[in-house]
Amino acid sequence: MSIAVIGTGYVGLVSGTCFTEMGFDVTCIDKDQTKISRLKKAQIPIYEPGLKELVKKNMRAGRLSFTDNLKTGVKDAKTIFIAVGTPTSENDGSADLSYVFAAAREIAAHIENDSVVVIKSTVPLGTSRKVKGIIAKANPRLKFHVVSNPEFLREGRAVKDFLQPDRVIIGVDSEKSLAAMQRIYQPMISENIPVIFTDLETSELTKYAANAFLAAKIAFINEMADLCDKSGANIDDVSHGMGLDPRIGKDYLKTGPGFGGSCFPKDTLALRKIAFDLGAESEIVESVIAANDKRKIAMAKKIIKANGEVKGKTIAALGLTFKADTDDVRASAALTIIPELVKNGAKVRVYDPHGMNNARKVLSGAIEWCDDVTQALKGADSAVIITEWREFAEMDLAKVKSLLKKPLLVDLRNLFHPGDMKKAGFNYISLGREAVLQGAETRNRKPEARKKA
Ligand code: UDX
Repeated sequence: MSIAVIGTGYVGLVSGTCFTEMGFDVTCIDKDQTKISRLKKAQIPIYEPGLKELVKKNMRAGRLSFTDNLKTGVKDAKTIFIAVGTPTSENDGSADLSYVFAAAREIAAHIENDSVVVIKSTVPLGTSRKVKGIIAKANPRLKFHVVSNPEFLREGRAVKDFLQPDRVIIGVDSEKSLAAMQRIYQPMISENIPVIFTDLETSELTKYAANAFLAAKIAFINEMADLCDKSGANIDDVSHGMGLDPRIGKDYLKTGPGFGGSCFPKDTLALRKIAFDLGAESEIVESVIAANDKRKIAMAKKIIKANGEVKGKTIAALGLTFKADTDDVRASAALTIIPELVKNGAKVRVYDPHGMNNARKVLSGAIEWCDDVTQALKGADSAVIITEWREFAEMDLAKVKSLLKKPLLVDLRNLFHPGDMKKAGFNYISLGREAVLQGAETRNRKPEARKKA
């Protein structure tokens, strides 16, 4: 069975490759000729663990191919996935659907009767029906089906998330498309992975609701971390204690510098717009967005306060990506924090294991681009950890201390234990754990921290 996937971004490339892994023949289509010619040589445009190997393996097996020609790309496919980008529209925060609609218009002339067009891009309620209208208008005699099948994969774990998902959500409005999707996801159905069939709108909303809820969990725990700093409580223990309640769940309760990435910030804005357009309240989503925006600025203020002032000082910023194990810097807290430090007169030395190339495109000003941690730290007045890369968690602290002018480390990912850092002679500032620094020892130290002590 042949599948075509339009769009070779995170979702498109991972989905297409993973479908070949599930045994299908897949053609990935993208207008970007340079990207396609690189992909044909198995050069992957993104840093995603495990993806390159799968691309190579399935290209060798003849199951995976790439083209910039839409017509030939969809020729033999009965199922066409649209996985193009839906960036935030500059005007009003809504999802910009122009790429999705353009893809729908273009395929209308080339697909066969009874084809199934699957929307994998994250799209607002009603988009699948609009796509249906666009294809029908462009090719009135065509018999086709439209399906909504949102993707829940996380960057950095995309391959695993795709092949072993917690669930698959599929919105359909015909028996034929239901049967076609059952065939595609049969390997997962056989493994008892929940494959949930809904109507088109429910499927579309489920994706936004899931992302907004996770974003809310993060915004909530960040608020609790601030409260910990004021009250003397310890956020690590609060998260742990909350998360053990299965009704709450332990995931997405890690405090940090504010959520970023290509999804949470974009999808919360889009959800707010969807609610507004439908005349529904979105107070919770609204406050999640506002709290997260404020948090990134608050993190910059925290760094400035820790330094007394940053004017004329050199700060080493460790981490630029929105989280570890990705090269993606979109909406990363670093992109708010670093310009704020520069605005206040600091010179910022930056280093990230995989995010330097992408960050160079968006950061400017008094920034020094470093080749490694040592270069960033050497002679800097203080350091700040923005992304939780393992490389930072495993730094030799004695060396860090000797490289810095003053042993001031602001850790926006709580990578170290405050007690250990104090003993190591650091002025260590982290999130929601002030009390530990003031002498209150945590009773339940994290195993990694215990090992290091
Ligand atoms: C997210 C969703 O998890 C995924 O299901 C969806 O398909 C796309 O959006 P992703 O953007 O790859 O995935 O990142 P994720 O791992 O969810 O992290 C998002 C942001 O939240 C990051 O900035 C991360 O640092 C932050 N985060 C996450 C926290 O601050 N604390 C946490 O406990 C978890």
